[in-house]
Amino acid sequence: MNTLVLSTSLRPASNSRIMARYAQHLLNQRSAETEVAFLDLRDHPALPMCDGGDCYSHPEVAAIRPLFARADAIIVAAPVYTFYLSAAAKNVVELTGGAWEDKTVAFLCAAGGASSYMSVMSFANSLMLDFRCVIVPRFVYATGKDFAQDAVADEDVKERIEQLVGATLRLARAAKAA
Ligand SMILES: Cc1cc2nc3c(=O)[nH]c(=O)nc-3n(C[C@H](O)[C@H](O)[C@H](O)COP(=O)(O)O)c2cc1C
Repeated sequence: MNTLVLSTSLRPASNSRIMARYAQHLLNQRSAETEVAFLDLRDHPALPMCDGGDCYSHPEVAAIRPLFARADAIIVAAPVYTFYLSAAAKNVVELTGGAWEDKTVAFLCAAGGASSYMSVMSFANSLMLDFRCVIVPRFVYATGKDFAQDAVADEDVKERIEQLVGATLRLARAAKAA
């Protein structure tokens, strides 16, 4: 199996990237079950905004698309912006579109407050409806208080990330076999 961890925050001190790195660390410990790739959108500042046309042949889009195409599972780490996921997260889906087809997808969300916990749902819905993604029904939602010194500090959030990684591999394996 192949698992892609996608970090979509463009903020240097991103909390969702900290969770993405922790998920990557846990996946690396399960290397007998999956290969792991990590894609950080901060490493691709030249990615264009989706224009529904020329963007699809942009070299940066061509460079990242195979990571999505190869993956059986994608763990999306994203900031909550205005009760949705960030525009950068949505843009990468628009740019890579069909490469998400039939993937198992899980979410690690970083937010400013506790009230936006449903924000991931419309993003998840569009992946289900557009690309028949299998959505892992276990989300991690964390706020600033859960982090300290560039690490996940809250033990409950750590455990939830571990459970999410386990559920993602289990569902992706089942979906691949089906
Ligand atoms: C433009 C913008 C909109 C935001 N909207 C929300 C929101 O709707 N709900 C919320 O809880 N936090 C919101 N926040 C706070 C971010 O979710 C928070 O800073 C989070 O840590 C960002 O993720 P990151 O650390 O991975 O970059 C917003 C922040 C920005 C910059």
